[in-house]
Amino acid sequence: MPQANKTEIIDYVKQNGNILDEYIEKLGAFGRVEGGGIIRPVYTPQWLAAREQLVEWMQEAGLSVRTDAVGNLWGKLEGSEPGKSYASGSHLDTVKEGGKYDGGLGILTAIVALRFLNELYGQPKFSLEAVALCEEEGSRFNKTFLGSRAITGTLPAEELDESADAEGISIRQAAETCGCDLSQLEAARRDDLVGFIELHIEQGRLLDDVKREVGIVQAITGTRHMGVTFEGQADHAGTTPMDLRKDALVAAAQAITKIQAIALEMGRPAVATVGQLSVVPGATNIVPALVNITVDIRHSDQAKKETLISRIETACREAAASQGVSVAIEQHQDRVPALMTPAMINLLQSTADELGILNMPMVSGAGHDSQVMVEQIPTGMIFVPSIAGRSHSRAEYTPLTEILPGVALLAQALYKLAY
Ligand code: GLV
Ligand code: MN
Ligand code: MN
Repeated sequence: MPQANKTEIIDYVKQNGNILDEYIEKLGAFGRVEGGGIIRPVYTPQWLAAREQLVEWMQEAGLSVRTDAVGNLWGKLEGSEPGKSYASGSHLDTVKEGGKYDGGLGILTAIVALRFLNELYGQPKFSLEAVALCEEEGSRFNKTFLGSRAITGTLPAEELDESADAEGISIRQAAETCGCDLSQLEAARRDDLVGFIELHIEQGRLLDDVKREVGIVQAITGTRHMGVTFEGQADHAGTTPMDLRKDALVAAAQAITKIQAIALEMGRPAVATVGQLSVVPGATNIVPALVNITVDIRHSDQAKKETLISRIETACREAAASQGVSVAIEQHQDRVPALMTPAMINLLQSTADELGILNMPMVSGAGHDSQVMVEQIPTGMIFVPSIAGRSHSRAEYTPLTEILPGVALLAQALYKLAY
């Protein structure tokens, strides 16, 4: 490994890092809707156009570009010794009316870090790759982590046909409109990846509050997503006495209030969110017959997460019984809390200390591809601040000056791994 001057990366990133401002703005224009939020679900025209733009930037950075079966985009700086690769990146899809930084920033910082390393030190010993993971948010198919699950070989092929979006389009059908060849799913698995580092905005307010430059993620919280359907009876709103109704919406409302109370009572870091609600038939003068809600439940302690889930399920059943309606609970996804790889945590923390970057250990309350990657690949995560902790919102913001220390840390850590 050629000896890199300790501050060389920091200076180089400071001098050349403003390219990121331009990238963030341009990438954020793909899927932007009136009011400023971004809607860029996987395999949509705006997602595909954004990926095309990334191809251009990867090529400008000197990377050789390819896509895999699920549509992950890879840009590679070939190493002199074949067979081993280190990667960095994040997801290209967004939540509904999300911001410019969630996911996108991790892709752009990976491209820029590889570009800077290439410009400063030329060819690495082991290959370095920037990756735009196709999907993480679950905002189109109620399934999350498509990109990282394909890479780790944990995406079952049946899921591609079984899961459909709100229009009934399956994952496979949607992917094929973007030129993906899902018959090659197995080939998307990467057994040669020996390390992964994801840079992401914190999406909370801790770093901003305590004025640290980066967070070194130690663990990612566990999450359960479920759908709860309350089924009552459609009746006339004028002629059906209150005591004779089977109102699915009243049952759902009681459940929602109870879900909030249970999570509050368990205390931090327990969280539970009802983010979607649909009412059928959904008319002013009809007693609601069918109500579907989604519930997002998280805790970083697996046993407490299970307790939280079981109390919420009981609350849904009790609310349904109190209104004489039936209830069905469907599990969409479940992930246990994930610990990041100790060697990666140490690498990131010691490198941050060497570079004089103020850092702190953190637990992520948000889900990330890293929690999937870490199951198979040594993985670490760098958080940069989110101003006022805003995220999953168009208000998401991190100024360039608060991104650059994370970029320097990422580049120096990749340098230590691959040169
Ligand atoms: C992803 O952003 C999640 O935590 O839901
Ligand atoms: Mn997100
Ligand atoms: Mn994200």
